[in-house]
Amino acid sequence: MLTPIYKTILKGETNSNPVWFMRQAGRYLPEFKEIRKKNPNFIKLCLNTNLATEITLQPLKRFNIDAAIIFSDILMVPYALNQKVKFKKNFGPELGNINLNKIIYKEKLNFISKLSPVYKSLKDIKKNNLIKNKDLIGFIGAPWTLLVYMINKISPKKKLIKNFFKDKILINELLNILEKFLKIHIEEQIKNGATIIQIFDSWAGLLEEKDLERFVYSPTFNLVNHIKSFNVPAICFPRKIKNYKKFCETVSPDVISIDYDINPKKILKEIKIPIQGGLDPKILLSDKETLKKEATRYLNIFKDHPYIFNLGHGVMPETNPLMVDYLVKTIKNFK
Ligand code: CP3
Repeated sequence: MLTPIYKTILKGETNSNPVWFMRQAGRYLPEFKEIRKKNPNFIKLCLNTNLATEITLQPLKRFNIDAAIIFSDILMVPYALNQKVKFKKNFGPELGNINLNKIIYKEKLNFISKLSPVYKSLKDIKKNNLIKNKDLIGFIGAPWTLLVYMINKISPKKKLIKNFFKDKILINELLNILEKFLKIHIEEQIKNGATIIQIFDSWAGLLEEKDLERFVYSPTFNLVNHIKSFNVPAICFPRKIKNYKKFCETVSPDVISIDYDINPKKILKEIKIPIQGGLDPKILLSDKETLKKEATRYLNIFKDHPYIFNLGHGVMPETNPLMVDYLVKTIKNFK
């Protein structure tokens, strides 16, 4: 039997209103915060199979959502490639210097074994009843977004560090290495039970139009094809790029996830493939009436188009879980 999300993607059904949320696991949930308090090392937490399994399933215990997303991070890949990665409280990620020699000679088996607890979590989640007739979403950071973190070493505020593009050899090497290891990471997630892969390109909007081909379209196209070769749908989230239509024509994902700057009516006219997301996560910080009004606006616009409900970026840490529950109920009661 097909899951509600597969029906939407593969059959183009428009009546099941499936929903899940980016960053649904962690951040805003009190039951996550409790675990997090006792586990100050975020990487170690992602590599703790039992806890990562539990955290992945936490939102499914609360809300009537149609997918789980594995509790991990896009920066687990630079970590597995031997770059130091730390998550600092109230600051975010901080990466160490890149040592290309250490990375280039990294063996495939060594990479897989470093991330094996994540793959084991996927396997364990699949066995849980809560995931029955639902999807288990695996994910990667797109090569460009990972390159940003690996070279910039911290989250860019609004722009990249000066001289970001200066070392051309380094950038070329990293793009090749990332493509190789992201393919492995995709394959391992699918082998262990991921039924969909989402590619997060959170910093795609930092690039100028002329650089999109090299850093976004071309590497993402190769990864989307790799995902499709396993008969698994690929969802792309090229956050804050201007031309989603061109992205879809060039990269051909199965689903396009839109950010909250995108005009939903305009995109509906431009794009034929299934669409996901859009609602501004800040709306969850307002009141029920506003939330219902905004959610219904998206649902009405995409009423006759294959649409997976989601936000235009991740659930914010300040979000009240009761508002998430109210949103899910609003979506599920929409006719
Ligand atoms: O969606 C989920 O709930 C699954 C797990 C997940 C996390 N990160 C857990 C996490 C996913 C899919 C991600 C993706 C991710 N990580 C992205 C792409 C999506 C986006 O938000 O744009 C990016 C850019 C990162 C990098 C990253 N990881 C940052 C910038 C931070 C710090 C602040 C934050 O929460 O955004 C993290 C840490 C992180 N990753 C946390 C969680 C639950 C918070 C850890 C904590 O408790 O301190």
